[in-house]
Amino acid sequence: MKKMVLLLIGFIFITSNAMASNLAKRAMEEGLKPIPDNQVELMKLIGSPDKDMVELGKKLFFDPRLSKSGLISCNTCHNLATGGVDGVASAIGHKWTSNPHHLGSPTVYNAVFNAVQMWDGRFPNLEEQAKGPIAAGPEMASPPELVVDKIKSIPAYVKEFEKVFKGQKNVVTFDNVANAIAAFERTLVTPSRFDEFLNGDSDVLSKKEKRGLNTFIDKGCTACHTGIGVGGGSMQPFPVVKPYKFAAVGDFKGNKDGLVKVPLLRNIKETAPYFHNGAVWSLEEAVKIMGETQLGIELKENEVEDIVAFLGSLKGRKPVVVYPVLPPSTNKTPKPDAN
Ligand code: HEC
Ligand code: HEC
Repeated sequence: MKKMVLLLIGFIFITSNAMASNLAKRAMEEGLKPIPDNQVELMKLIGSPDKDMVELGKKLFFDPRLSKSGLISCNTCHNLATGGVDGVASAIGHKWTSNPHHLGSPTVYNAVFNAVQMWDGRFPNLEEQAKGPIAAGPEMASPPELVVDKIKSIPAYVKEFEKVFKGQKNVVTFDNVANAIAAFERTLVTPSRFDEFLNGDSDVLSKKEKRGLNTFIDKGCTACHTGIGVGGGSMQPFPVVKPYKFAAVGDFKGNKDGLVKVPLLRNIKETAPYFHNGAVWSLEEAVKIMGETQLGIELKENEVEDIVAFLGSLKGRKPVVVYPVLPPSTNKTPKPDAN
């Protein structure tokens, strides 16, 4: 009798393990991919950023002097302590200006995995993207010449640029500022329990999380939220089937074809409010809305709960970022200008 029970327990254990590895296999067949646990592979994927360039980029990411007012850094809106976002519906920049289209700040964590950047996908990579917000009026409002003047006025920065961009004729350029910041951003990847699950550890997800993953696939979420970012791979229509009930908040209509970049869902529990216009604060509601607008289905309460549990498993380990001490300004450094 004891033997039978043991046998039975063993059988249940083996089948539930086999089911879990089937689920991982199924997830990968749907295009979901783990962040590699192998450092060499990961480096290949994120473009092997140069170490010194990453350090310089980190300083620039945190340096509010890149903004005209001297108060706003990339980290103001993409706060690495709060999921890489600002937690407000519409980003607030220079002169306390709210984003003119009522757009929220997407997270910089894992942005390296986006096929294109921005809600309308207008930038092909992080290097091109980084130049946008520095110069943009409602964000940091710093013309490229001002940024270059400021950096050139700080000898310790110039030295660092010379080291990192050795061999180039002109080292302190707006492009190189963006290149360094992007190199830093490339390192902001956050492996999670979900990756361990896909990499073969079937015990790391709870029953509920596994059920949620199954539902996520069954309902068709992976048609768009797939790849290594669980999103970020394509431009898609929004809404597809039914209207988005907060469409009137702001005037964003997607790119010229009316398409929106599918957001990454990694760390999604930390990046409320949701959608381009930040109109939805609860992840449960965001998931329900996706069912209606994208798939034309009414998700049941328990399905929503399971999916949200699964999305929780995408909470990643953040890289340790030591807050940089920045080289001091000099008498020559252009003064902050709040106007
Ligand atoms: C005033 C707030 C603000 C500041 C400052 C700011 N950003 Fe952003 N960022 C945003 C908003 C809003 C968007 C989305 C805008 C859009 O799609 O048009 C965005 C988009 C991005 C994206 C695209 C992410 C994605 O998923 O598409 C990246 C990367 C990014 N910012 C990096 C930076 C960097 C680097 C800096 C500093 C040089 C910076 N941002 C400064 C608000 C800000
Ligand atoms: C047809 C493609 C498509 C399908 C299918 C789809 N989504 Fe989305 N999803 C999008 C797009 C596009 C957005 C961004 C919409 C916007 O804000 O303008 C989005 C946004 C989201 C957001 C908010 C992300 C953020 O950072 O604000 C969540 C959460 C989400 N989707 C979950 C799901 C779930 C769960 C499913 C399945 C029930 C699903 N999606 C199905 C395309 C899709």
